[in-house]
Amino acid sequence: MPSLHWIGKEKIINHHADVPFRTLKHTYGFDNGQQYPNETHSGNKIIHGDNLEALKSLLPEYEGKIKCIYIDPPYNTGNENWVYNDNVNDPKILKWLGQVVGKESEDLSRHDKWLCMMYPRLKLLHKLLSDDGAIFISIDDNELYNLKLVCDEIFGANNYYTQIIVQSNVRGHTYRQIAKTHENILVYTKSDQTEFNEIPKDPENSDLNLQDNISKFNIRELRNRNPKFGRFNRPNLFYPFYVCSDIVDKNGHFPVSLQQSEKYNIEVFPKNSSNIDSCWRWGSLLADKNISEDTLSSNLIAKPVRTGGFNIYEKYRKDTVKAKSILFNTSFITERGTVEIGELGLSIFEFPKPLSLISLVILLSSSDDDIILDSFAGSGTTAHAVLNLNEQDGGNRKFILIEMEDYADTITAERVKRVINGYADKQPINGSFDFYELDMPLFNEDGNLNEAIEVEKIRQYVFYTETKQGIAIHTHNDNRYFLGKHNDTAYYFYYEKDKITTLDFNFLASIKVKAGLYIIYADNCLLSKDFLSKNHLIFKKIPRDITKF
Ligand SMILES: C[S@@+](CC[C@H](N)C(=O)[O-])C[C@H]1O[C@@H](n2cnc3c(N)ncnc32)[C@H](O)[C@@H]1O
Repeated sequence: MPSLHWIGKEKIINHHADVPFRTLKHTYGFDNGQQYPNETHSGNKIIHGDNLEALKSLLPEYEGKIKCIYIDPPYNTGNENWVYNDNVNDPKILKWLGQVVGKESEDLSRHDKWLCMMYPRLKLLHKLLSDDGAIFISIDDNELYNLKLVCDEIFGANNYYTQIIVQSNVRGHTYRQIAKTHENILVYTKSDQTEFNEIPKDPENSDLNLQDNISKFNIRELRNRNPKFGRFNRPNLFYPFYVCSDIVDKNGHFPVSLQQSEKYNIEVFPKNSSNIDSCWRWGSLLADKNISEDTLSSNLIAKPVRTGGFNIYEKYRKDTVKAKSILFNTSFITERGTVEIGELGLSIFEFPKPLSLISLVILLSSSDDDIILDSFAGSGTTAHAVLNLNEQDGGNRKFILIEMEDYADTITAERVKRVINGYADKQPINGSFDFYELDMPLFNEDGNLNEAIEVEKIRQYVFYTETKQGIAIHTHNDNRYFLGKHNDTAYYFYYEKDKITTLDFNFLASIKVKAGLYIIYADNCLLSKDFLSKNHLIFKKIPRDITKF
């Protein structure tokens, strides 16, 4: 498979593994329209910090659990005048490149730097994505082809799903001979388990040519739409239809059944390919739809086309359609995003994505209780879209947003607060979130636990690494080192900041919970291997045996 090379690649290729693991420090919670010091535990999170470290901090809790990732990274246009730098010369990124790539970083071109910046972040996003999830990456032509090759490498070329073309600007870049009007969204999955949803039908862009005016059913002529088969091939798959000519509605439609009876007595069958007025149906349609004969008769209608001839139509209620890979509706243009942020009174932020675009991405790739991650959050359009969708359909989607710049609070979180509290002519809507900063690294450079970190955070980390579960508030009466019980295994983290701990008979005597297996972390162990194994005990040494993400 072709792969892309750039200066600095070898330094960056495994860098995601070396990024120090930091926990998150809760700054405030926002609930019932107000800010509180306590955590809301709503699952909605806004994290202020470099996404490289923030994504890493999410791994213990969210690895393989994110159903939909949308990112809108800097396009690398070279434009540094925006409120955010659309250029990898941002001082924070330059400093990071200097540290990771070293002296060589001074010679990197704009594209090398961008690729060095994106690669480890995409690696972490890949880890966070669920096996049935999808990632959508907005990008313009500056880095589109580099991004495609890098994503092929990280996500697998076979997991490339499509490229969506978004008409982002109707007039286009008129200073060019060919005015560019579009940008792109690359779509990757993690495996072949992803199933994309259909999306709500846009009434203005319906491809249906008939509509039942009375019941608002859609009506579609029943025939195989696959042009490969032509109209009258494969007669062995035809079924006869019977039309009831006694009943006719005011549109001239007759009911149709698959069963012949006294009422349904006009048989319609394509006897030969020249009989183009005949009604006919593919067997597979029946099997797929799994509908009963009764329903069928009321769902099918016939319309005479000339004496003795009928066309058969299917009536159906379907409010969704397959999404198209070219989006040209004006609700997707960038200007729409600018208007939307203006309505929120946050016009300082230029060119946010329009809500419709991100809502579409969310609807396509997730269900109403999934987690949506945006690690280049900007003005927080993704959180806004999640809250709006939940409000519309009663869903319980969660958002996780990461923003590096200081406006993570004053713009990103502020937007979410205004959305929840109502703004302009928009009513308040349900929603709460927690705001976090990145905390110190969990491990020191020598690999020891950082003693400045709250013990509870270390306990949570260890329990996650073992079970991929959060520490539950449990009611077990046990010693204070008990972390929890999961799958009949009890976990203990026998750790004291200023004292060496030893797994011995005294410690065992303090255990109260009954379990099939005990995993106990401590600094030392005085119990023999034989004793441990006979008593279903596993000793893990601190910090050596703590899994490092
Ligand atoms: C193009 S903007 C995203 C706009 C967003 N989609 C919206 O609708 O408002 C990119 C954002 O990513 C942020 N960003 C860039 N590098 C980052 C990093 N390493 N970590 C976190 N955020 C970063 C920038 O500060 C900027 O706000």
